[in-house]
Amino acid sequence: MTFKPRLELLIATHNAGKVRELQQTLRELPLTLRYLAEFPDISTVEETGNTYEANAILKALSYAEQTGICALGDDSGLEVDALGGKPGVLSARFGGENASDQNRTEKLLRVLLPHRKGEITARFICCIAFAGWQSSSTEPRTTKPRILNVSTGTCEGAIALEPRGTKGFGYDPIFIPSGYNETFGELSEDVKGSLSHRAKALSATRGFLTQFLRAT
Ligand code: IMP
Repeated sequence: MTFKPRLELLIATHNAGKVRELQQTLRELPLTLRYLAEFPDISTVEETGNTYEANAILKALSYAEQTGICALGDDSGLEVDALGGKPGVLSARFGGENASDQNRTEKLLRVLLPHRKGEITARFICCIAFAGWQSSSTEPRTTKPRILNVSTGTCEGAIALEPRGTKGFGYDPIFIPSGYNETFGELSEDVKGSLSHRAKALSATRGFLTQFLRAT
């Protein structure tokens, strides 16, 4: 019997909340997950793209090239209809570069004060790009990585009038997914993991990876 090495896959994000969600969804695949924290000298990739897809691709390609390991890059954001889709692709920088999740959430609720009469509809969007090489061999890489898959997921919902719950991360305490009364901050990890924007993008990515692992 020939031994097939497990594919190493770099989870190309510094966000601990996202890392947890990715680990959870990919746990049954024969992968060895690697993390950015293992590469202290790695250059951080700036999100200079105008779309989630452009930023996910930038991150996946750069981190795969820097490490020689296949990489998943992700970009996501919250789009509020009353704000014309803002903060959108700039969600991480809403409230300034050094703002905390709590600062960003408080700022969003402040900006939304004039819109509190009706339901404040919104959606989370997540795009995940896979950069790698056609062969899953662990030999040293001599060519540049390529984007082999891009998946996007959307989760519709509404903004709560005040933060509720301590689960999740980012804007979770103020996002109520459609069909629920609780925020992502109150709902269990399993519920978020079954219907979130990242869960949907990851489910498509997992489908791609299953085929990729079979074919390489
Ligand atoms: P980025 O994808 O790292 O650029 O992050 C986009 C912004 O949206 C950050 O402020 C995240 O905390 C927030 N965000 C992305 N996904 C989620 C989520 O699942 N829940 C709550 N906030 C999120």
